[in-house]
Amino acid sequence: MRPAQLDLARYTVRLDAETDFSGWRDAARRLALNKVRPDDISWHVEPGSNQTDLPDVPAGVQLVVPRDFVEHAEIAFCYSDPGRFAFLYRLLWRLRTEPKLLSIASDPDIRRLETMEKAVRRDIHKMRAFVRFRKIGDGDEERYVAWFEPDHFIVERNSAFFVRRFTGMRWTILTPHASADWDGDRLAIGPGAVKGDAPAQDDTEALWRTYFESIFNPARLKVKAMQKEMPKKYWRNLPEASLIPDLIAGADKAAKDMIARMPTTPAPYHARLQAKHWPKNEPAEALEDQAANTISELREAAKGCRRCPLWRDATQTVFGEGPDGAKVIFVGEQPGDQEDLAGKPFVGPAGKVFDAILDDAEVDRQKVYVTNAVKHFKFEPRGKRRIHSKPNAGEVQACRWWIDKEFELIKPNLAVALGATAALSLLGKAIPVTKMRGQVIEREDGLRVFITIHPSFILRIQEPADKEAERQRFLQDMKQVKRLMAA
Ligand code: URA
Repeated sequence: MRPAQLDLARYTVRLDAETDFSGWRDAARRLALNKVRPDDISWHVEPGSNQTDLPDVPAGVQLVVPRDFVEHAEIAFCYSDPGRFAFLYRLLWRLRTEPKLLSIASDPDIRRLETMEKAVRRDIHKMRAFVRFRKIGDGDEERYVAWFEPDHFIVERNSAFFVRRFTGMRWTILTPHASADWDGDRLAIGPGAVKGDAPAQDDTEALWRTYFESIFNPARLKVKAMQKEMPKKYWRNLPEASLIPDLIAGADKAAKDMIARMPTTPAPYHARLQAKHWPKNEPAEALEDQAANTISELREAAKGCRRCPLWRDATQTVFGEGPDGAKVIFVGEQPGDQEDLAGKPFVGPAGKVFDAILDDAEVDRQKVYVTNAVKHFKFEPRGKRRIHSKPNAGEVQACRWWIDKEFELIKPNLAVALGATAALSLLGKAIPVTKMRGQVIEREDGLRVFITIHPSFILRIQEPADKEAERQRFLQDMKQVKRLMAA
């Protein structure tokens, strides 16, 4: 080995292959430890050069680079730009004095590194999606060959995936830069090939075409997105691609035919439920004339409730549940998403917390009546989700008609207001729940109202210790409710 030439010396590094990362790594280590500046090196690919003229690693020194760098560099090394060897060395050079460099997303070199990695990863993904094997030979001679044209030097990096996926097959993937061959036992990376080296057609092609045709949904065709996922350059090697132009051309008509074949959309579920229970679209006041002498009759009447506009978007009325003669009525705010679908109060996440704590307090949910201040789910649509929205004072007031009837028929000796909306409904005025929590307020009609928080408050606490503390406080409240029920 030649003695180290320092600083101004000019070095030529000859790598064994476009993908010779270990050769690059070894050269970069020697050069960086000998403080050879990036501008003093030129990088080339020269197969079989067996280079011996790079400086030795000086004794007693070590090159320290962040572990991440090697991972990033290995991927970016596949990027098909001849400047990548010098670029990665420049990064290595900078890392010696800027150890946090990799985390500076605004740095132009880091942005370039990210772009390179992204392109390589995308290419890897495309190869996994679009390699199509063609069968050659039969019996012992059977093997599968594919032709693929990646943008970057990814064959070596991607081969392990194909070995895992097609372990039981003998296959070869040919690309212009390299080929990968799996004989069922051993993977060999060989030289590049030309398209003509791969067979043109086989029986599996018809299968691919049939499959593609059957999964193609004309109504969901987004040509741009499809071309992004399946860029045109890959089409020529995909058996099913011959169908694409015709399928796209006919998509408009096919979508129209599909719509014409579709059954008429039924009325939304809630509209059907409402129509069943309120067929004549009577005014809300008509309800007051309906004599409901039992909770079940009241529940039936409430199915058609239109006392406020919330019925329009909700699925159904969620009425109270529990025995007619319950000693206590728990009042929540309004049904949530799951309650709206199930038609039952407190069955969703807040309901689960509530149930568990009632259980711990040895209050049997089967023996208590559980209802809500507002009986329809109020929400804001956000994408496909329905986000809970707090009912306003008018909606609470409109629903008092129902809750008063529930109290009239059940005659409990205690009411539990779970949160501010319930307290507003039961007491007719807003009260500070956190301040008055644990207190009993006696109404003019003699009903005792116990004030506590809504169980969803516990759900919203992130910090585990705080969550547990709040759960314990709610448990104490429920134990007090149990004592009050007996009084
Ligand atoms: N929150 C409520 O207030 N009531 C329910 O029924 C469910 C969640």
